[in-house]
Amino acid sequence: MTATPSPGEEAGLPDRATVDERVKVVHDHADRIFLWDYERNRTQLVTLYNKAMASQWNSVTELDWSTDVDPEGLVDLDTPMLRIVAAARDLPGSPIAAWSDRELTAVAVEMFKASLSQFMHGEQGAMMTAAKIVETVPWIDAKYYAATQTMDEARHTEVFAKYLDCKLGDAYPMSPFLEDQITALLEDGRWDIAYLGMQIVIESLALAAFGDMLRRTEEPLLRKLLRYVMSDEARHVAFGVLSLAEHYRDLSAAELKDRQDFLLENTLRSRLRSTTPEVWERMGVSAEVVGPFLVEAATTVGVNPFAGFRRGFFAKLVPNVRKLGLLDANDGYLRERWGEAGLLEFEFADDTAADYETYDAVAEDRARLAAQAQGA
Ligand SMILES: [Fe+2]
Ligand SMILES: [Fe+2]
Repeated sequence: MTATPSPGEEAGLPDRATVDERVKVVHDHADRIFLWDYERNRTQLVTLYNKAMASQWNSVTELDWSTDVDPEGLVDLDTPMLRIVAAARDLPGSPIAAWSDRELTAVAVEMFKASLSQFMHGEQGAMMTAAKIVETVPWIDAKYYAATQTMDEARHTEVFAKYLDCKLGDAYPMSPFLEDQITALLEDGRWDIAYLGMQIVIESLALAAFGDMLRRTEEPLLRKLLRYVMSDEARHVAFGVLSLAEHYRDLSAAELKDRQDFLLENTLRSRLRSTTPEVWERMGVSAEVVGPFLVEAATTVGVNPFAGFRRGFFAKLVPNVRKLGLLDANDGYLRERWGEAGLLEFEFADDTAADYETYDAVAEDRARLAAQAQGA
């Protein structure tokens, strides 16, 4: 039996399945808020907005896209993950037993591309979440700020996409874990959940991941790109902390408990970072077959590939959650559970909410250039 063509197909438009491969539809359940009160009474948000305007950077003129990038020169073979892959190669019956250092370097390049691809997709999610905040937050100063963040995230998405496309080759699809996490934020009816999930959880995660990549690469274009993106991200986290600390002062115990459960769900109950099985497929190896060898090799080598990254993430996240009052609400419900998981050692570890004042690579570079011009 032949299916009846849809009106779109009859009109020569691509069919639904083809379209679904290219777009994802998300239904938002939040109210959009139009405000009549234009008074600028949240001074810290005004300061942050002014700072954001001054620190906008131009992705076309301020990054040197003519830089030659050698993908093999980008990768660090001494990461915990690559040490595990090398150890898995030597296990009896390993599906990668025939691999030489050439293949090890090739898989390292693919993993690097997979990480940058997740950054790119995550940035698009951040752009959409920031746009949602523009529409849903009931304060004019927060709408203005979120509008600058939307522009920042557009630039971030664009530079990661361009770096992949011009310097490295085909991107990888979004990891289902990240996709589910961001989709849930976009669907939620409560405006503050977009903030809590993006500005507090995902941006802490992103700052840790970008910082990790920045420490491991010498490539000048990528280094500058990451430094500039991180300068913007530090402001975004500060925006989340400032806004939510105010909003959460007025929520009931039951409402705060929901937010505490949201954080538990996003930290202890879910995997922090998923792997990209497509990396293995591209290397011509079944991810399912190589998986058990990697698990065994991780035990042999005695490293957890995500341990360093996990520390970086919690060192950013936990102090910010403390400032929101969420550690101690409901008789320390979250403090107790994070304490059991050993996360309270990070309570005073880092202060991203104030970081943006000190961590501003864009302002630093501009001051240096101005000083050079004066000296010339
Ligand atoms: Fe971003
Ligand atoms: Fe951001």
